[in-house]
Amino acid sequence: MLEEVQQLQKAAVAEIEAAADLQALEELRVRHLGRKSPLSQIMKQIGALPATERRALGQISGAAKKALQDALEGRQSQLQEKAEAGDAFDVTLPGRRPLAGKLHPLSQLSDELIAIFQGMGFSVADGPEIEDEYHNFDALNTPADHPARDLHDTFYLEDGRLLRTHTSTVQIRVMESSAPPIRIISLGRCYRKDSVDATHHFAFHQIEGLYVDENVSFADLKGTIEVMGRQLLGATTQVRFRPHFFPFTEPSVEYDFSCSLCGGDNARCRICKGTGWIEIGGAGMVDPAVFTAVKYDSERYTGFAFGLGIERIAMIRSGIDDIRLFLENDLRFTRQF
Ligand code: DAH
Repeated sequence: MLEEVQQLQKAAVAEIEAAADLQALEELRVRHLGRKSPLSQIMKQIGALPATERRALGQISGAAKKALQDALEGRQSQLQEKAEAGDAFDVTLPGRRPLAGKLHPLSQLSDELIAIFQGMGFSVADGPEIEDEYHNFDALNTPADHPARDLHDTFYLEDGRLLRTHTSTVQIRVMESSAPPIRIISLGRCYRKDSVDATHHFAFHQIEGLYVDENVSFADLKGTIEVMGRQLLGATTQVRFRPHFFPFTEPSVEYDFSCSLCGGDNARCRICKGTGWIEIGGAGMVDPAVFTAVKYDSERYTGFAFGLGIERIAMIRSGIDDIRLFLENDLRFTRQF
């Protein structure tokens, strides 16, 4: 009988270790350890045996029962692990591509503009978006009663400060804190109390340039604007200057780039409308009154300044017809750049 128990144990452990799944394992547990199992039958008879045999068989069958229980437990945790791992990780599934972020189209263009002007020796200056009237208007030769203020209606804080209407404020801040020569650009957000439509927004971006030194001339301004135009829209880009008025420059101009889309041949061109020219921004020679405001010697120094809208350039280059898209943060739009 001792041998029979050992045989039983050996066969049952082998079967348990080979069990294919948890259900098969449960069936084996009933078959080998249940009340009707061969081992249980043998153990029932132990009491009736003579004392000498009883002891040996008792030990052997107790050990066999323990061995089966251990085998069952071991196989059970193996099968459970396998089942869980199988749920969480199907190696045959295609991978999930991580969403790589990238810069907003306006940031990309800003970086490009910075590179263009750094190539001409300009450095980047920064200024606050919350400004005082002095830096946004007065120091730029635009006193309180000046009609040019009407075009720059903006948002006011309770303490009288305002959201800047242009980046020209940075001209003043830079000249207040440093002496000539000055050669800076400044990029950033500006605000106006404009009704929002496809070409106007209450928040938009500008780039400003300022160059002050002895003997800076209008020719320097023209050359600088021309380099910018060619780098942005292509080497054949022409620049046209039209007389204009800005309080902080004298003389003042508006400048246009030749239309890179149709070259002026298409009366229905959605960018230039067939004129062949695209309005870009304003510029001029720094007004002596501005130099006086920042305590520069206007007899000794001259300078030029220019400004333009960054959205406008992005819209021209990428054929975007609605300025609102830039601030809506719709991934279907921003992902295209
Ligand atoms: N600040 C002007 C605006 O927002 C643009 C501008 C015009 C900037 C002439 C300049 C300039 O620096 O010289 O309308």
